Amino acid sequence: MEPTISESPARVLAGRRVLITAGPTHEAIDPVRYIANASSGKMGYAIARAARDAGAEVVLVSGPVAIPEPEGVEIVRVVSAAEMLEACEREFPACDAAILAAAVADFTPAHPRGRKIKKDEGGLTILELKETADILKELSSKKGERAVVGFAAETNDLLTHAEEKLEEKGCDLIVANDVSRADSTFGSDTDQVTFVAPDGVAELPLLPKDEVARRLVARLAALLAKGTRE
Ligand code: CTP
Repeated sequence: MEPTISESPARVLAGRRVLITAGPTHEAIDPVRYIANASSGKMGYAIARAARDAGAEVVLVSGPVAIPEPEGVEIVRVVSAAEMLEACEREFPACDAAILAAAVADFTPAHPRGRKIKKDEGGLTILELKETADILKELSSKKGERAVVGFAAETNDLLTHAEEKLEEKGCDLIVANDVSRADSTFGSDTDQVTFVAPDGVAELPLLPKDEVARRLVARLAALLAKGTRE
């Protein structure tokens, strides 16, 4: 009888510890209301599974999502952008790489109320917001030899914006995603992405998110083997 050939993926991340962020964040307006976005967390969770299957120790910092927790992965659950930043800053020093796939809120209420806002007590017509910290930029500024990967969700001028983000954030790779396409947006099971790095651009075809995740993991392994920019 022919021996069975195992199709288990190459363990290209064996011995590496990888931080991954996923999902949206929720920014409290009052105890029952929040600002959120349409991120499902599917991409970040697919990356966490792919990195685990490639032999990495995975720490998944997850915003509020409604998808099953991957097995064999350490999960840190957070709600707000501030909590996500705190968890990432705690976990990053012990990691070899970070892939920041979360759709972090860019703005948060400047004065969240401790009590539910009542309509008959003036209600809410104006909401003052302040910017959140940029986690990708923060981690990139302290990365040393670690690899840091960010995402760029764009609706127009994809490559220009992704190249600007690569420089502005100081990371090693941007996964650029045209979210104006119905087959490549929040909640879909497929994605058409382009890897944008200082040494060039690689456009991938439309693929299931699991396959995008596997290719990203292979790219990360190559980046770690070659040495990242400091
Ligand atoms: N990101 C982050 N912290 C934030 C906002 C974004 O770490 N406060 C990260 C995301 O996880 C993603 C990357 O930055 O990896 C790009 O996110 P995106 O929303 O596309 O870009 P922004 O920097 O928010 O810029 P803009 O919304 O103006 O396009």
